[in-house]
Amino acid sequence: MRTSFLSMLALGAAAVSAAPAPSPASGMVERSSSSCTFTSAASAKAGKKSCSTIVLDNIEVPAGETLDLSKLKEGTKVIFKGETTFGYKEWKGPLIRMSGSNIEVSGEEGHVINGNGAKWWDSKGTNGGKTKPKFFYAHGLDDSTITGLNVKNTPVQAFSVQADNLVLDQITIDNSDGDDNGGHNTDAFDVGESTYITISNANIKNQDDCLAVNSGENIIFTGGTCSGGHGISIGSVGGRDDNTVKNVTISDSTVTNSDNGVRIKTIYKATGEVSDVTFSNIELSNIAKYGIVIEQDYENGSPTGTPTTGVPITGLTVEKITGTVKSSATDVYILCGDGSCSDWTWSGNTLSGGKTSSKCKNVPSGASC
Ligand SMILES: *[C@@H]1O[C@H](CO)[C@@H](O)[C@H](O)[C@H]1NC(C)=O
Repeated sequence: MRTSFLSMLALGAAAVSAAPAPSPASGMVERSSSSCTFTSAASAKAGKKSCSTIVLDNIEVPAGETLDLSKLKEGTKVIFKGETTFGYKEWKGPLIRMSGSNIEVSGEEGHVINGNGAKWWDSKGTNGGKTKPKFFYAHGLDDSTITGLNVKNTPVQAFSVQADNLVLDQITIDNSDGDDNGGHNTDAFDVGESTYITISNANIKNQDDCLAVNSGENIIFTGGTCSGGHGISIGSVGGRDDNTVKNVTISDSTVTNSDNGVRIKTIYKATGEVSDVTFSNIELSNIAKYGIVIEQDYENGSPTGTPTTGVPITGLTVEKITGTVKSSATDVYILCGDGSCSDWTWSGNTLSGGKTSSKCKNVPSGASC
Protein backbone atom coordinates (compact mmCIF):
# COMPACT_ATOMS: atom_id res chain seq x y z
CA MET A 1 0.00 0.00 0.00
CA ARG A 2 2.62 2.45 1.14
CA THR A 3 5.13 1.35 -1.49
CA SER A 4 2.75 1.70 -4.38
CA PHE A 5 1.52 5.07 -3.13
CA LEU A 6 5.07 6.38 -2.95
CA SER A 7 6.12 4.99 -6.30
CA MET A 8 3.03 6.55 -7.86
CA LEU A 9 4.10 9.87 -6.40
CA ALA A 10 7.59 9.35 -7.77
CA LEU A 11 6.26 8.55 -11.24
CA GLY A 12 4.00 11.56 -11.06
CA ALA A 13 6.90 13.87 -10.30
CA ALA A 14 9.02 12.49 -13.12
CA ALA A 15 6.17 12.76 -15.59
CA VAL A 16 5.43 16.40 -14.91
CA SER A 17 6.87 18.72 -17.53
CA ALA A 18 10.03 20.55 -16.56
CA ALA A 19 9.00 23.57 -18.58
CA PRO A 20 8.18 26.65 -16.54
CA ALA A 21 4.52 27.37 -16.11
CA PRO A 22 3.17 30.07 -18.40
CA SER A 23 2.23 33.16 -16.45
CA PRO A 24 -1.49 33.17 -15.91
CA ALA A 25 -3.56 36.00 -17.32
CA SER A 26 -4.93 38.33 -14.74
CA GLY A 27 -7.87 36.77 -12.91
CA MET A 28 -7.18 33.31 -14.28
CA VAL A 29 -6.39 30.41 -12.05
CA GLU A 30 -3.00 29.00 -12.86
CA ARG A 31 -3.55 25.45 -14.04
CA SER A 32 -0.27 24.24 -15.40
CA SER A 33 2.54 23.17 -13.15
CA SER A 34 6.26 22.83 -13.18
CA SER A 35 8.43 20.24 -11.52
CA CYS A 36 11.80 21.33 -10.21
CA THR A 37 14.59 19.07 -9.08
CA PHE A 38 17.09 20.70 -6.74
CA THR A 39 20.42 19.27 -5.73
CA SER A 40 21.44 22.01 -3.30
CA ALA A 41 19.77 23.79 -0.39
CA ALA A 42 20.62 27.18 -1.92
CA SER A 43 18.96 26.43 -5.26
CA ALA A 44 15.88 25.04 -3.49
CA LYS A 45 15.56 28.20 -1.43
CA ALA A 46 16.07 30.47 -4.43
CA GLY A 47 13.80 28.59 -6.82
CA LYS A 48 11.04 27.15 -4.64
CA LYS A 49 8.41 29.79 -5.45
CA SER A 50 8.17 28.91 -9.12
CA CYS A 51 7.68 25.18 -8.64
CA SER A 52 4.53 23.16 -8.09
CA THR A 53 6.59 20.06 -7.41
CA ILE A 54 9.93 20.27 -5.66
CA VAL A 55 12.21 17.23 -5.70
CA LEU A 56 15.03 17.44 -3.17
CA ASP A 57 17.60 15.19 -4.78
CA ASN A 58 20.43 13.98 -2.51
CA ILE A 59 20.90 17.38 -0.94
CA GLU A 60 23.89 18.01 1.34
CA VAL A 61 22.78 20.94 3.46
CA PRO A 62 25.81 23.04 4.48
CA ALA A 63 26.71 23.35 8.17
CA GLY A 64 24.71 25.98 9.99
CA GLU A 65 22.09 26.36 7.24
CA THR A 66 18.42 25.48 7.09
CA LEU A 67 16.90 23.57 4.21
CA ASP A 68 14.45 26.42 3.88
CA LEU A 69 11.11 25.52 2.33
CA SER A 70 9.16 28.19 4.14
CA LYS A 71 6.41 30.20 2.42
CA LEU A 72 5.88 27.66 -0.33
CA LYS A 73 3.38 28.37 -3.04
CA GLU A 74 -0.05 27.00 -2.17
CA GLY A 75 -0.45 23.39 -3.30
CA THR A 76 3.26 22.63 -3.66
CA LYS A 77 4.39 19.00 -3.50
CA VAL A 78 7.76 18.38 -1.87
CA ILE A 79 9.51 15.05 -2.43
CA PHE A 80 12.67 13.90 -0.70
CA LYS A 81 14.84 11.69 -2.88
CA GLY A 82 18.03 9.81 -2.06
CA GLU A 83 19.92 10.83 1.08
CA THR A 84 19.54 14.26 2.60
CA THR A 85 22.45 15.13 4.91
CA PHE A 86 23.54 18.07 7.07
CA GLY A 87 26.94 19.54 7.84
CA TYR A 88 28.11 19.83 11.43
CA LYS A 89 27.99 23.04 13.40
CA GLU A 90 26.88 23.90 16.90
CA TRP A 91 23.72 25.93 16.39
CA LYS A 92 20.01 25.84 17.20
CA GLY A 93 18.75 24.96 13.73
CA PRO A 94 16.29 24.02 12.47
CA LEU A 95 17.84 21.77 9.86
CA ILE A 96 14.59 21.84 7.86
CA ARG A 97 11.75 24.36 7.84
CA MET A 98 8.51 24.20 5.85
CA SER A 99 5.46 26.41 5.74
CA GLY A 100 2.60 27.08 3.37
CA SER A 101 -0.86 25.74 2.80
CA ASN A 102 -2.08 22.65 0.99
CA ILE A 103 1.48 21.33 0.90
CA GLU A 104 2.09 17.62 0.34
CA VAL A 105 5.41 16.38 1.64
CA SER A 106 6.59 12.85 0.90
CA GLY A 107 9.65 10.77 0.15
CA GLU A 108 10.62 8.49 -2.71
CA GLU A 109 11.11 4.83 -2.01
CA GLY A 110 14.55 4.33 -0.47
CA HIS A 111 15.06 7.93 0.64
CA VAL A 112 16.52 8.83 4.04
CA ILE A 113 16.81 12.16 5.79
CA ASN A 114 19.88 11.67 7.88
CA GLY A 115 20.30 14.15 10.74
CA ASN A 116 23.82 12.87 11.34
CA GLY A 117 23.06 13.19 15.06
CA ALA A 118 26.11 11.31 16.33
CA LYS A 119 28.22 14.41 15.65
CA TRP A 120 26.24 16.30 18.30
CA TRP A 121 25.24 13.57 20.77
CA ASP A 122 26.89 14.04 24.14
CA SER A 123 24.21 12.61 26.49
CA LYS A 124 23.18 16.16 27.45
CA GLY A 125 20.48 16.87 24.88
CA THR A 126 19.16 20.39 25.43
CA ASN A 127 20.48 20.53 29.00
CA GLY A 128 24.01 21.55 28.10
CA GLY A 129 27.04 20.42 26.21
CA LYS A 130 26.99 21.13 22.50
CA THR A 131 24.32 23.41 21.06
CA LYS A 132 22.26 21.08 18.91
CA PRO A 133 20.05 21.95 15.96
CA LYS A 134 16.36 21.11 16.07
CA PHE A 135 15.43 18.92 13.14
CA PHE A 136 12.17 19.93 11.40
CA TYR A 137 9.95 22.95 12.02
CA ALA A 138 6.45 22.44 10.66
CA HIS A 139 5.39 25.90 11.77
CA GLY A 140 2.61 27.37 9.67
CA LEU A 141 2.40 24.24 7.55
CA ASP A 142 -1.37 24.37 7.36
CA ASP A 143 -3.98 22.18 5.65
CA SER A 144 -1.09 19.97 4.65
CA THR A 145 0.24 16.42 4.82
CA ILE A 146 3.62 14.90 5.55
CA THR A 147 3.62 11.26 4.47
CA GLY A 148 6.10 8.42 4.63
CA LEU A 149 9.25 10.31 5.59
CA ASN A 150 12.17 8.17 6.68
CA VAL A 151 14.30 9.98 9.25
CA LYS A 152 17.47 8.84 10.94
CA ASN A 153 19.53 10.18 13.85
CA THR A 154 18.26 13.63 14.71
CA PRO A 155 20.71 15.68 16.83
CA VAL A 156 17.96 16.49 19.38
CA GLN A 157 14.15 17.01 19.05
CA ALA A 158 12.75 15.87 15.68
CA PHE A 159 9.41 17.39 14.55
CA SER A 160 8.22 20.64 16.05
CA VAL A 161 4.58 21.06 15.03
CA GLN A 162 2.85 24.45 15.22
CA ALA A 163 0.17 24.23 12.59
CA ASP A 164 -3.52 24.02 11.81
CA ASN A 165 -4.88 20.97 10.06
CA LEU A 166 -1.72 18.98 9.45
CA VAL A 167 -1.57 15.20 8.95
CA LEU A 168 1.72 13.40 9.65
CA ASP A 169 1.31 9.84 8.43
CA GLN A 170 3.72 6.88 8.31
CA ILE A 171 6.72 8.77 9.58
CA THR A 172 9.67 6.67 10.66
CA ILE A 173 12.27 8.13 12.98
CA ASP A 174 15.09 5.77 13.87
CA ASN A 175 17.39 7.31 16.44
CA SER A 176 18.33 3.95 17.92
CA ASP A 177 22.00 4.58 17.11
CA GLY A 178 21.80 7.11 19.95
CA ASP A 179 20.76 4.55 22.58
CA ASP A 180 24.34 3.75 23.59
CA ASN A 181 25.91 6.72 21.95
CA GLY A 182 24.69 9.82 23.78
CA GLY A 183 21.35 10.51 22.06
CA HIS A 184 19.18 12.55 24.47
CA ASN A 185 16.00 14.70 24.30
CA THR A 186 15.26 13.31 20.86
CA ASP A 187 11.48 13.85 21.12
CA ALA A 188 9.76 12.59 18.00
CA PHE A 189 6.79 15.01 17.83
CA ASP A 190 6.44 18.15 19.93
CA VAL A 191 3.04 19.74 19.33
CA GLY A 192 2.17 23.25 20.52
CA GLU A 193 -0.24 26.05 19.58
CA SER A 194 -1.86 23.78 17.01
CA THR A 195 -5.31 22.65 15.98
CA TYR A 196 -6.49 19.59 14.06
CA ILE A 197 -3.24 17.63 14.01
CA THR A 198 -3.29 13.91 13.16
CA ILE A 199 -0.18 11.82 13.66
CA SER A 200 -0.87 8.31 12.38
CA ASN A 201 1.19 5.16 11.98
CA ALA A 202 4.42 6.65 13.27
CA ASN A 203 7.29 4.28 13.89
CA ILE A 204 9.64 5.80 16.44
CA LYS A 205 12.87 4.71 18.11
CA ASN A 206 14.28 7.52 20.23
CA GLN A 207 15.40 8.70 23.67
CA ASP A 208 12.62 11.05 24.82
CA ASP A 209 8.88 11.55 24.30
CA CYS A 210 7.32 9.79 21.33
CA LEU A 211 4.70 12.53 21.44
CA ALA A 212 4.59 15.59 23.68
CA VAL A 213 1.58 17.91 23.43
CA ASN A 214 2.30 21.18 25.21
CA SER A 215 -0.76 23.02 23.94
CA GLY A 216 -3.36 22.67 21.21
CA GLU A 217 -6.80 21.35 20.41
CA ASN A 218 -8.32 18.54 18.37
CA ILE A 219 -5.26 16.35 18.14
CA ILE A 220 -5.11 12.66 17.25
CA PHE A 221 -2.21 10.24 17.66
CA THR A 222 -3.04 6.75 16.44
CA GLY A 223 -1.38 3.58 15.21
CA GLY A 224 1.97 4.59 16.69
CA THR A 225 4.86 2.30 17.56
CA CYS A 226 7.08 3.92 20.17
CA SER A 227 10.28 2.38 21.46
CA GLY A 228 13.29 3.38 23.53
CA GLY A 229 12.05 6.75 24.78
CA HIS A 230 9.92 8.28 27.49
CA GLY A 231 6.47 7.26 26.24
CA ILE A 232 3.48 9.26 25.04
CA SER A 233 3.00 12.53 26.90
CA ILE A 234 0.69 15.44 27.38
CA GLY A 235 2.85 18.24 28.74
CA SER A 236 4.50 19.60 30.47
CA VAL A 237 1.54 22.00 30.42
CA GLY A 238 1.97 25.44 31.95
CA GLY A 239 4.37 28.34 31.87
CA ARG A 240 4.22 28.97 28.11
CA ASP A 241 2.24 31.47 26.03
CA ASP A 242 -0.47 28.88 25.39
CA ASN A 243 -1.32 26.52 28.23
CA THR A 244 -4.51 24.87 26.99
CA VAL A 245 -4.62 21.25 25.87
CA LYS A 246 -8.08 20.20 24.76
CA ASN A 247 -9.61 17.26 22.91
CA VAL A 248 -6.63 14.96 22.35
CA THR A 249 -7.11 11.28 21.49
CA ILE A 250 -4.22 8.84 21.68
CA SER A 251 -5.19 5.36 20.58
CA ASP A 252 -4.25 1.97 19.14
CA SER A 253 -0.53 2.24 19.77
CA THR A 254 2.32 0.37 21.44
CA VAL A 255 5.01 1.67 23.77
CA THR A 256 7.97 -0.62 24.48
CA ASN A 257 11.37 -0.35 26.18
CA SER A 258 10.51 3.11 27.44
CA ASP A 259 10.61 5.00 30.73
CA ASN A 260 6.84 5.56 30.78
CA GLY A 261 3.80 4.30 28.95
CA VAL A 262 1.33 7.19 28.94
CA ARG A 263 1.57 10.34 31.01
CA ILE A 264 0.26 13.81 31.71
CA LYS A 265 2.44 16.31 33.51
CA THR A 266 1.52 19.83 34.47
CA ILE A 267 3.71 22.54 35.90
CA TYR A 268 3.90 23.33 39.59
CA LYS A 269 2.22 26.68 40.41
CA ALA A 270 1.38 27.38 36.73
CA THR A 271 -2.07 27.97 35.24
CA GLY A 272 -3.78 26.41 32.22
CA GLU A 273 -6.05 23.47 31.51
CA VAL A 274 -5.99 19.91 30.23
CA SER A 275 -9.42 18.71 29.16
CA ASP A 276 -11.01 15.94 27.15
CA VAL A 277 -7.91 13.77 26.74
CA THR A 278 -8.40 10.09 25.88
CA PHE A 279 -5.81 7.33 26.03
CA SER A 280 -7.32 4.19 24.50
CA ASN A 281 -6.02 0.75 23.57
CA ILE A 282 -2.32 1.18 24.22
CA GLU A 283 -0.14 -1.83 24.81
CA LEU A 284 2.93 -1.42 26.98
CA SER A 285 5.95 -3.62 27.51
CA ASN A 286 9.25 -3.33 29.34
CA ILE A 287 8.44 0.04 30.92
CA ALA A 288 11.13 1.20 33.36
CA LYS A 289 9.42 3.88 35.51
CA TYR A 290 5.64 4.22 35.23
CA GLY A 291 2.95 2.54 33.16
CA ILE A 292 0.38 5.32 33.60
CA VAL A 293 1.57 8.54 35.24
CA ILE A 294 -0.41 11.72 35.81
CA GLU A 295 1.16 14.41 37.94
CA GLN A 296 0.62 18.10 38.65
CA ASP A 297 3.97 18.90 40.21
CA TYR A 298 6.60 19.52 37.51
CA GLU A 299 9.19 22.25 37.87
CA ASN A 300 12.23 22.74 35.61
CA GLY A 301 11.69 19.34 34.03
CA SER A 302 11.50 17.37 37.27
CA PRO A 303 8.74 16.36 39.66
CA THR A 304 8.65 18.23 42.96
CA GLY A 305 6.38 15.77 44.75
CA THR A 306 4.02 18.64 45.66
CA PRO A 307 1.02 18.98 43.30
CA THR A 308 -0.71 22.32 42.63
CA THR A 309 -4.18 23.03 41.26
CA GLY A 310 -3.64 25.70 38.56
CA VAL A 311 -3.74 23.35 35.56
CA PRO A 312 -6.81 21.16 36.17
CA ILE A 313 -7.11 17.84 34.35
CA THR A 314 -10.75 17.20 33.50
CA GLY A 315 -12.65 14.89 31.17
CA LEU A 316 -9.83 12.35 31.08
CA THR A 317 -10.51 8.86 29.71
CA VAL A 318 -7.98 6.09 30.26
CA GLU A 319 -9.12 2.79 28.79
CA LYS A 320 -7.59 -0.48 27.65
CA ILE A 321 -4.05 0.30 28.72
CA THR A 322 -2.63 -3.20 28.79
CA GLY A 323 0.66 -5.08 29.08
CA THR A 324 3.49 -5.06 31.55
CA VAL A 325 6.00 -2.83 33.23
CA LYS A 326 9.31 -3.90 34.80
CA SER A 327 9.24 -5.21 38.37
CA SER A 328 11.19 -2.14 39.50
CA ALA A 329 8.62 0.17 37.88
CA THR A 330 5.25 1.39 39.15
CA ASP A 331 2.06 0.37 37.35
CA VAL A 332 0.10 3.57 38.00
CA TYR A 333 0.97 6.88 39.69
CA ILE A 334 -1.50 9.74 40.12
CA LEU A 335 -0.53 12.92 41.94
CA CYS A 336 -3.26 15.56 41.75
CA GLY A 337 -3.86 18.78 43.65
CA ASP A 338 -6.89 19.09 45.88
CA GLY A 339 -9.89 19.10 43.50
CA SER A 340 -7.86 19.72 40.31
CA CYS A 341 -8.55 16.32 38.73
CA SER A 342 -12.17 15.52 38.00
CA ASP A 343 -14.57 13.82 35.64
CA TRP A 344 -12.27 10.90 34.84
CA THR A 345 -13.29 7.61 33.21
CA TRP A 346 -11.08 4.62 33.80
CA SER A 347 -11.85 1.22 32.29
CA GLY A 348 -10.31 -1.99 31.05
CA ASN A 349 -6.80 -1.13 32.20
CA THR A 350 -4.91 -4.31 33.03
CA LEU A 351 -1.32 -3.26 33.54
CA SER A 352 0.81 -5.52 35.68
CA GLY A 353 4.32 -6.47 36.65
CA GLY A 354 5.25 -3.40 38.66
CA LYS A 355 4.81 -1.96 42.10
CA THR A 356 1.70 -0.34 43.52
CA SER A 357 2.34 3.28 44.42
CA SER A 358 1.78 4.40 48.00
CA LYS A 359 2.23 8.07 47.06
CA CYS A 360 -0.87 8.78 44.98
CA LYS A 361 -2.81 11.90 46.03
CA ASN A 362 -6.29 13.20 45.34
CA VAL A 363 -7.16 10.37 42.95
CA PRO A 364 -10.55 11.28 41.45
CA SER A 365 -13.44 8.87 41.71
CA GLY A 366 -13.44 6.45 38.83
CA ALA A 367 -9.66 6.15 38.63
CA SER A 368 -7.56 3.79 40.65
CA CYS A 369 -3.98 3.97 41.71
C1 LIG B 1 -12.05 16.62 18.68
O1 LIG B 1 -11.00 16.46 17.74
C2 LIG B 1 -11.37 15.63 16.65
C3 LIG B 1 -10.14 15.39 15.80
O2 LIG B 1 -9.63 16.56 15.28
C4 LIG B 1 -12.51 16.29 15.86
O3 LIG B 1 -12.89 15.46 14.80
C5 LIG B 1 -13.67 16.53 16.80
O4 LIG B 1 -14.69 17.24 16.13
C6 LIG B 1 -13.22 17.31 18.03
N1 LIG B 1 -14.33 17.38 18.98
C7 LIG B 1 -14.76 18.52 19.46
C8 LIG B 1 -15.88 18.42 20.46
O5 LIG B 1 -14.31 19.61 19.13
